[in-house]
Amino acid sequence: MKNLLHIVLLLFLFGCSQKKEKEVIITESKMYKQSEMAALMLKMYAVNLENKALILDGKLPNSIPKEFTNIHTAKLTDPSDRNAAFKGFSDFYLKTYEQVTTTTKDSLSVKHNNTINSCIACHKTTCIGPIPKIKKLLIH
Ligand code: HEC
Repeated sequence: MKNLLHIVLLLFLFGCSQKKEKEVIITESKMYKQSEMAALMLKMYAVNLENKALILDGKLPNSIPKEFTNIHTAKLTDPSDRNAAFKGFSDFYLKTYEQVTTTTKDSLSVKHNNTINSCIACHKTTCIGPIPKIKKLLIH
């Protein structure tokens, strides 16, 4: 029961919606199962965090990992999130990331921030919970 409270609290802080929070309460005895998309998102977060450090260090960022194109297919916690707008935001994200890896060192921070803003743009429409965390990836 104590663990369950922790999970509910975590979802409240980082999760996408109240809806999910309720689902966890209803399926009390089951473990919260991470979706393919949530796992992919955490990798995207990690790579972009690393890119921020590399850019601040005057180095070139990581080239785009192949699996990131799975954003178009990964199973979502809420499959109804995947609509035309979602596809548009996914393409936009991949495109802005490409620009980070095909640029000279001068404008890297701006291009990196464009990528992070593309994460935030999609999150505003589908999953507002992690936005404060994603904003930390911006280079100021
Ligand atoms: C096309 C829309 C879209 C884009 C672009 C996007 N996200 Fe997400 N993100 C989502 C959705 C939807 C979820 C919820 C996934 C689920 O629960 O299945 C999510 C979940 C997350 C989570 C929470 C994972 C967890 O612990 O459950 C983090 C963190 C995250 N995204 C970070 C990012 C970062 C960083 C970027 C950019 C590098 C990004 N997202 C780009 C839609 C998007």
